[in-house]
Amino acid sequence: MQIITDPGQMQAIAEKMRLNRQLVGVVMTMGALHEGHLSLVKLARKSAGTVILTIFVNPRQFGPSEDLHRYPRPFEQDVALAKSADIDYLFAPEAGSIYPEHYQTTLECGALAERFEGEQRPGHFNGVATVVTKLFNITKPHTAIFGEKDAQQLAVIRQLVLDLNMDIAIVAAPIVREENGLAVSSRNVYLSSQERSAAGIIYQGICHAEKRIAAEEYNLQAIAAEITGMISSVPGFRPAYVSFVHEMTFEPAAIAEAGREYRLLLAVHVGGVRLIDNGKFRA
Ligand code: PAF
Repeated sequence: MQIITDPGQMQAIAEKMRLNRQLVGVVMTMGALHEGHLSLVKLARKSAGTVILTIFVNPRQFGPSEDLHRYPRPFEQDVALAKSADIDYLFAPEAGSIYPEHYQTTLECGALAERFEGEQRPGHFNGVATVVTKLFNITKPHTAIFGEKDAQQLAVIRQLVLDLNMDIAIVAAPIVREENGLAVSSRNVYLSSQERSAAGIIYQGICHAEKRIAAEEYNLQAIAAEITGMISSVPGFRPAYVSFVHEMTFEPAAIAEAGREYRLLLAVHVGGVRLIDNGKFRA
């Protein structure tokens, strides 16, 4: 595995691979690598001869009161983990080489980015879309793997690729969960051990939705209210949103129609940590 920090050097290597007709897959991360990231790498390997992993804590997707400065950056540990995974290049640029002095351009996402995470974190998806586009231009991949845990981010990136005619296949990787069902995330390290085990309630909420929909309860708003009640009953857990959306549009859905697909989106404050999760259902 070769570690590259210079965007120009990464771009030159990527260009050479393209000329040699090598299929390139990229997995973008903000580091603090975990099992979830490794599952993305495995998926990338299925369709690509060369796998590039990027580590970059993107300042432009954090709000002023968010955790940019305390975001975990265990770089040595990440390098060791990346070496043990099937990765060809680790691209880990400095912030100044991605956003040099006098940098000006930011992409603006549309309606898809305005609700849920977008509403709670103004400007977040514009920052994500901007860095993802820059990393696409630098790594020139044929395929890019993104985790389904960040379902809205995945939808925003699919829209970005479609809208800007990018010739890149976006592949969704299933959510990896801890034993109690908590979705694996770099931010789980912020939780106390008590909070971490109690956070299984979020997955229990998703399972509850699955059972209710399987029993042909189509009032999605009522199911979301039940799940909100379940989560709120855990001391210190405060749902920010629990809402069903149409799978294709991410428009809120109140009543399900048989045969259609929906996604339940959840964000929950646990102490000072915000956890997100989701589940997909067919009515
Ligand atoms: O999902 C993430 O880790 C980030 O949002 C991404 C896609 C690497 C962009 O910074």
